[in-house]
Amino acid sequence: MSDSDDDIPALSADTMAALQEFYNDTISKNTPAASSSSSAMFAVGAVEEDWGMSQFWYSDDTATRLAEELIREAGEGGRIACVSAPSVYQKLKQGVVEGSDGVSAVVLEYDRRFAVYEQEFVFYDYKEPLALPGELLPPQSFDIVLVDPPYLSEECLSKVAQTVKYLTKGKVLLCTGAIMEEYAKRFLDLKLCSFLPKHNKCLANEFRCFVNYPSQLLSS
Ligand SMILES: C[S@@+](CC[C@H](N)C(=O)[O-])C[C@H]1O[C@@H](n2cnc3c(N)ncnc32)[C@H](O)[C@@H]1O
Repeated sequence: MSDSDDDIPALSADTMAALQEFYNDTISKNTPAASSSSSAMFAVGAVEEDWGMSQFWYSDDTATRLAEELIREAGEGGRIACVSAPSVYQKLKQGVVEGSDGVSAVVLEYDRRFAVYEQEFVFYDYKEPLALPGELLPPQSFDIVLVDPPYLSEECLSKVAQTVKYLTKGKVLLCTGAIMEEYAKRFLDLKLCSFLPKHNKCLANEFRCFVNYPSQLLSS
């Protein structure tokens, strides 16, 4: 034992730099919290995809485009619900999209890793479409609802549609497989957009957006 600095083994500058790089990388991959406040600003992609939960994150461009769309359609002071679409919620929280500080947003998600968003996180399981905290989510209180259901099935979309109708004042933006077009029309009266959402990883299924309002995504 000694209290002298001379006795402490020193790491070389190169080793220190390598360790710092490893540390930063580990933090960014495993910890979504790089927060400056309780509602936090997180990097998109910081939460790794879990395919067991059918997680396929949007590309940065698509998340940005969808966030811009939500901000425009929600309007100043508007409220946005991102249902099973956490990367767009994250994009809204990063403060990099113009107008994002003029809206409020919540994320309804099954993956509890997103509980780091505290009061803006609402646990959501589509199998219980109306099991939502009433005090946090009074009916029809969101100006626009974005939803990207976990499964391409009639059962899933019909249940998610109940949630969406409960949440929205009217506007709905659905992102899902092109094969769901008929159900999107039947359950939510949505029209196919020409905008093509992209993901970080290639998906086997063609993905599309659907809306029930005169969106710029219809013809872009
Ligand atoms: C196809 S991904 C959509 C993600 C979106 N593309 C994004 O980048 O944010 C489906 C989402 O549904 C969520 N999910 C999985 N199981 C669910 C369930 N039982 N109820 C509701 N959402 C669920 C996943 O965690 C995931 O965020």
